[in-house]
Amino acid sequence: MPYQDFRQFLDALRREGDLIEVTRPVDLKYEVGKALKQSYVHDGPAIIFKNNGTEFPLAAGLYSTRSKALLAFEADEDTIFAKVLHGLDNPMPPLLLNGATPCQEVILTGADIDLSRFPIPTYSPKDGGPYITAGIVVSKDPATGMADVGHYRFQITGKNTMSFLAQPFHRFGKNLAKCRELKRKPQAAIVLGTDPILAYTAQVQSPDATDDWQVAGGLRGAPVELVRCKTIDLEVPATAEVVIEFEVDLGETVMEGPLGEYTGYYTPASPKPVAHITAITHRKNPYFQGLLTGKPVTENHILKEIPFEASVWRTLKAQFPTVERVAIPPSGGVSFYVVIAMRPRFAGEARQAILAAMASNIRPKWVIAVEPDIDIYNPDEVEWAMSFRVRPEHDVFVVPSTPAGPLDPSVGEGAALAARTSSAVGIDATRPFGETFADVADVPGWQSYNFPELRRPRDQAGR
Ligand SMILES: Cc1cc2nc3c(=O)[nH]c(=O)nc-3n(C[C@H](O)[C@H](O)[C@H](O)COP(=O)(O)O)c2cc1C
Repeated sequence: MPYQDFRQFLDALRREGDLIEVTRPVDLKYEVGKALKQSYVHDGPAIIFKNNGTEFPLAAGLYSTRSKALLAFEADEDTIFAKVLHGLDNPMPPLLLNGATPCQEVILTGADIDLSRFPIPTYSPKDGGPYITAGIVVSKDPATGMADVGHYRFQITGKNTMSFLAQPFHRFGKNLAKCRELKRKPQAAIVLGTDPILAYTAQVQSPDATDDWQVAGGLRGAPVELVRCKTIDLEVPATAEVVIEFEVDLGETVMEGPLGEYTGYYTPASPKPVAHITAITHRKNPYFQGLLTGKPVTENHILKEIPFEASVWRTLKAQFPTVERVAIPPSGGVSFYVVIAMRPRFAGEARQAILAAMASNIRPKWVIAVEPDIDIYNPDEVEWAMSFRVRPEHDVFVVPSTPAGPLDPSVGEGAALAARTSSAVGIDATRPFGETFADVADVPGWQSYNFPELRRPRDQAGR
């Protein structure tokens, strides 16, 4: 049975000993960020900050480790990949509910809208202010009505206003651009505190003509239950803890930033659009949600890793059937560094697969192809392949003038987001096709060799 809501996932984390409640006062300014970082570094638990200076608890760190991701998918390392692929291959339409639903137990409009009532942390010392970082934005393509969900950050600029970053190559950014063309006022909603699969769905890389509710239904194995928003033409998950409905004034900008970002660097302040809140609806006694982003590994990276790897694998597999696995590790922000395990069927095929990965919307800067005997999740093995199977003058190539990866600090902030370009490095670390190559100097059978003397005395104690 999939999790019905946020609270069921909190219960599951609690059962696993992966959730703690902090009842002493914790300052939303910097202290929450420090506590989360300490928990991340120690593979620690999710945290509910109960005494945060507001009337509502702040739940954070829910996606901070791989084991929590596996718990969200109700899978283990052996089943996760197949389970996600099965979900992506079996989309399921949502159910639209009528009548009272949990996420609209309390409805705040007009003068009652006041973001300062909610626990919204300022995470890193140079951040421009308090940020909603765990929010899932629901928007629609204004021409087709196709629903998108994706995470987008929001800086609080007033009691009913926020500013945000929507990259022009992410669907919310594209929807805003289409609204501008069609002279429509964009509407969207931030959803906080959902069943965890929706958060991972928000990171699935799907074509623009995809209904993300269907993707979420497939991944959950059950339809997402939706309810119509109160002030805008959108549907949101009925069991969400908090929903912030808003409109965007496309003629208006305000300085947004800096924010400590997933690259491990601050993005400087720059003019960004303004979101005007039309309603906040929430459950009774809602949980607000927090998430620290910054130098890898953070929740941001864990959220992306499973959906990004499955999405890129599916795209590559369609053209390159011998692709076995794709690794997109947190060290590259789960974007900039991609390793493909494949068995080329002809000379040059690995290069084609590298170019296809470079052409994906995750915009990697480094793409390495190795053969499937290399464990692509083990950097030692990948570096071994790069050291001894690569002839740099043949196998390393630079593709100039590729679109820059999201928030790449090496590209700088000079140009507008849509105008930033970079370059990408491809490394074909598969052995030269059709040529004889030195034998791997391993000692087959070493794993099963009976060698009791090797056990250290500590291991033998009690045996
Ligand atoms: C925690 C988190 C915060 C994110 N914040 C932003 C953001 O502020 N702006 C943005 O363009 N992308 C952001 N992203 C990346 C997008 O959510 C992500 O690439 C997603 O796949 C975009 O999906 P879409 O194109 O379907 O909307 C964030 C990702 C995560 C995990």
